[in-house]
Amino acid sequence: MSTAVALDGPAGAGKSSIAKRAAKALGFIYVDTGALYRTIGLAATRAQVEPVDSLQLDKLLEEIKVELTFSKDAGQIVLLNGEDVSDEIRTPEASMMASKISAVPKVRAYLLDLQRNMAKENNVIMDGRDIGTVVLPDAQVKIFLTASPEARAGRRYKELIEKGMSVKYEDILSDVIERDYNDTHRDVAPLKPAEDSVTVDTTELDFEQSVEAILDVIQNRINN
Ligand code: DC
Repeated sequence: MSTAVALDGPAGAGKSSIAKRAAKALGFIYVDTGALYRTIGLAATRAQVEPVDSLQLDKLLEEIKVELTFSKDAGQIVLLNGEDVSDEIRTPEASMMASKISAVPKVRAYLLDLQRNMAKENNVIMDGRDIGTVVLPDAQVKIFLTASPEARAGRRYKELIEKGMSVKYEDILSDVIERDYNDTHRDVAPLKPAEDSVTVDTTELDFEQSVEAILDVIQNRINN
């Protein structure tokens, strides 16, 4: 039987980089479910479909094909109708569209089997917002990875400054707070810790310590 680690938490808690490293250490596949919402967002943008237009969205979901593949070097690759869109889904516009489209129940339902099948066929660390609560309620390990809004905004600020961008810490902090509000207050699959999850707070931890912390939780749960 395969093993599933459900990893949920707010944006900017470092889930993807921490989970990628932990998955490598365990020989598991790292599945980034945000990429799926981003891909549907991209498909909607290309087809000029508004996320709220139910009929157009139904038609779009019938017509598109979203697939995940994995390569040793590049990790997860997401395909939209056979085209690799892994880079194109990372723009700020795609983030915004993903955020809107992820609140639509039929989009969440559409992606459910794809996510569950990944976990049936592979040992996975699956990163998202509702993995422990909705997608894989029977996951052997559930982790809620979080950090204070200030710590998350501070890390993001540092990243952007290092990339040479001119940004203000206060603006990033208010974005983080707004996104947290949206994620936790939407009607469908809101972000919240599963009852049987272990919370790991990385506010005071650096990257290596965070990886160690989640590996400890995983190994404890799997071995007990
Ligand atoms: O993790 P991310 O930033 O790539 O996610 C993109 C958007 O998709 C974000 O607004 C939250 C949403 N999302 C979700 O609702 N459920 C998931 N399992 C993963 C992401």
